[in-house]
Amino acid sequence: MFRTSSSPDPTEFAGKRAIVTGGSRGIGAAIVQRLLDGGATVVTTARNATDETPKAATFIRGDVGTLAGVQAFAAAALAELGGVDIVVNNAAAARAHIGGISSIPDEEWIDALDLNYLSAVRVTNALLPALREAGPGGVIVNISSGAALTPPPPLAHYGAAKAALNAYSKALASELAPAGIRVTTIIPGNVLTPGADAIRQNFADAMDVPLAATTAGIPLGRPGDPRDIAEAVAYLASDRAQWVTGVSLTVDGGELPIV
Ligand SMILES: NC(=O)c1ccc[n+]([C@@H]2O[C@H](COP(=O)([O-])OP(=O)(O)OC[C@H]3O[C@@H](n4cnc5c(N)ncnc54)[C@H](OP(=O)(O)O)[C@@H]3O)[C@@H](O)[C@H]2O)c1
Repeated sequence: MFRTSSSPDPTEFAGKRAIVTGGSRGIGAAIVQRLLDGGATVVTTARNATDETPKAATFIRGDVGTLAGVQAFAAAALAELGGVDIVVNNAAAARAHIGGISSIPDEEWIDALDLNYLSAVRVTNALLPALREAGPGGVIVNISSGAALTPPPPLAHYGAAKAALNAYSKALASELAPAGIRVTTIIPGNVLTPGADAIRQNFADAMDVPLAATTAGIPLGRPGDPRDIAEAVAYLASDRAQWVTGVSLTVDGGELPIV
């Protein structure tokens, strides 16, 4: 069970403007809430809000799976905030394909790349002029996945897209460091969220094992809580990490082998 050890400093992100994609539920909603708790002004997007969507954030309905959707969202978010200091590329969807990697249809590969990789590239491209205008101190946090490093075959396309996101983030970190803009990646392990729970249920059904078996054996003894990832985002987005860029931070209870 997630333990809250201390209250967030409510002034840590005071005056900061944050844009988080996929903040309607799960990890994204926890990230939005954590940035709000630190005093940031936050805009988020998804195709639909849910009961989990933090009320104190501005929710703009949108689809970051297409270039046009990203451009419409970015323009609306910048109009709302007047600029941006923190960008969290979190929106994604893993869709398992049972039946062999070579049978994944071309459209599923393209969808996986559009949503799980190119959405982050497109959101970043659309927001970069505003990040540069805000001056040194800007931060981009890209939410990747353990599937980028140890992809299960039914998630080969999702894992490949997330691996591309890792490589892109490294290159971007090098390019933007002279401007004082930091770029980091988080690699979550098995975190209990609506999206991931559905995928795990698929796997459990396909393998004919109980759902709990899909999160068994995590060295730290439990699956992740969305707030585990949100805390890591808060650290990487804050001045506490002002000398940290280009890293991939694995947050997974010790599940991935050391790489
Ligand atoms: N949970 C895990 O175990 C786990 C593990 C490794 C990595 N991750 C990564 O962590 C991030 C969050 O995952 P999660 O488990 O919290 O997933 P989730 O519960 O499915 O939430 C995904 C969020 O992204 C939004 N989204 C999906 N497609 C979108 C689109 N086309 N346009 C705009 N928003 C879209 C969803 O809202 P709508 O569907 O309404 O659009 C929702 O807000 C993802 O990057 C995921 O790859 C999660």
